[in-house]
Amino acid sequence: MADKMIPLADLRYAAAMPRVPAVSVPPIGLLGDTLGRPLRDLRISVTDRCNFRCSYCMPKEVFDKQYAFLPQTSLLSFEEIARAARLFVAHGVRKIRLTGGEPLLRKHLEVLIAMLAELRTPEGDHLDITLTTNGSVLARKAQALKDAGLNRITVSLDAIDDAIFRRMNDADFPVADVLEGIAEAQRVGLGPIKVNMVVKRGTNDDQILAMARHFKGTPIVLRFIEYMDVGATNGWRMDEVLPSAQVIARIAAEFPLEPLEANETGETAARWRYRDGSGEIGVISSVTQAFCHDCNRARLSTEGKLFLCLFASQGHDLRALLRGDYSDAQIAGAIGLIWQARGDRYSELRSEGAAAPSAGAERRVEMHYIGG
Ligand code: GTP
Ligand code: 5AD
Ligand code: SF4
Ligand code: SF4
Repeated sequence: MADKMIPLADLRYAAAMPRVPAVSVPPIGLLGDTLGRPLRDLRISVTDRCNFRCSYCMPKEVFDKQYAFLPQTSLLSFEEIARAARLFVAHGVRKIRLTGGEPLLRKHLEVLIAMLAELRTPEGDHLDITLTTNGSVLARKAQALKDAGLNRITVSLDAIDDAIFRRMNDADFPVADVLEGIAEAQRVGLGPIKVNMVVKRGTNDDQILAMARHFKGTPIVLRFIEYMDVGATNGWRMDEVLPSAQVIARIAAEFPLEPLEANETGETAARWRYRDGSGEIGVISSVTQAFCHDCNRARLSTEGKLFLCLFASQGHDLRALLRGDYSDAQIAGAIGLIWQARGDRYSELRSEGAAAPSAGAERRVEMHYIGG
């Protein structure tokens, strides 16, 4: 089978049929892509639906009642996800993040978490299993997630002011319920908890200090994310990006900060801590300081397409293999070939002025579909 395009039932995004190698070399966790980057982090989107309509991700005008979300039959089943995850782990994945859309909208998610929690690395270690949520139903679900084996959680929260937050989620959802979700996650031990705030200049940049103040003195790590030109629907403009350097300067003017070493290579966030010892913050600067050089992340979409970059417009149809007559060794072999051919580094190219904005036919994948 060549890397040719085949017609698929779901043609939302192009996906190449993966090539299955004739002779499968067993995965030994030493895969490298064309830039020598290992495969360590797998992000799995479990639904393309969300109950929020953040304008930078699922603007209401596009994601309205007419919008056709994926039908149930297109979604990977939990068994298919767990099988794929096991093969990725054999290739070197150490961290699995469940995303969406809003992952907690996927029914019985704790069943999937329990299946993933059983996986072990080739060395016999547990995986780092985490989840990104908007927090809207977290208070109700935190205990079940913890019991199923989820290690930690990251909550998206773009403002601490209720009116601004309601406007940003465009679903009139109150901040208090998200805070309650975070408190419950803390109570059941889903830590270390991170809170992610996408900063849009002119929309919520006046919330930077208020958010810093709110989480300072707690074990929660607040991270500020530069608004990205991901997808093709959010009408991204550079003048709405507030560079992370300015975020740090604004906070440091009130609360002195010092940089921290990275926890591990390939990390998205640059870490800082308050000099008075009252906690840690982070900045994720994919626009002004791209971090593609050691990007070790693969993304599995809701219907089983493998994407090698957040900004890709084409995936690799793993679902076709998972639902076809292929052995684990064959699918692992196909994953290995795909990763070895990877050369994506979109954010760096954009910084160098080389990346073209998304064009009609090559529609870039949307964040709600592939997950953050
Ligand atoms: P931790 O393991 O908790 O450090 O998580 P993480 O930072 O790896 O993942 P998270 O989903 O919390 O990432 C936060 C945000 O960073 C996402 O919502 C995206 O906005 C951005 N981001 C994550 N991964 C990438 C990436 O590979 N490329 C780019 N450009 N941005 C990314
Ligand atoms: N820019 C930056 N981050 C984004 N996210 C979604 N869309 C964007 C964007 N345009 C991330 C946010 C959110 C998570 C679900 O996805 O971090 O918290
Ligand atoms: Fe939903 Fe998160 Fe996208 Fe907001 S950013 S619309 S909460 S998936
Ligand atoms: Fe990785 Fe692509 Fe993000 Fe660069 S832009 S860090 S290659 S996902």
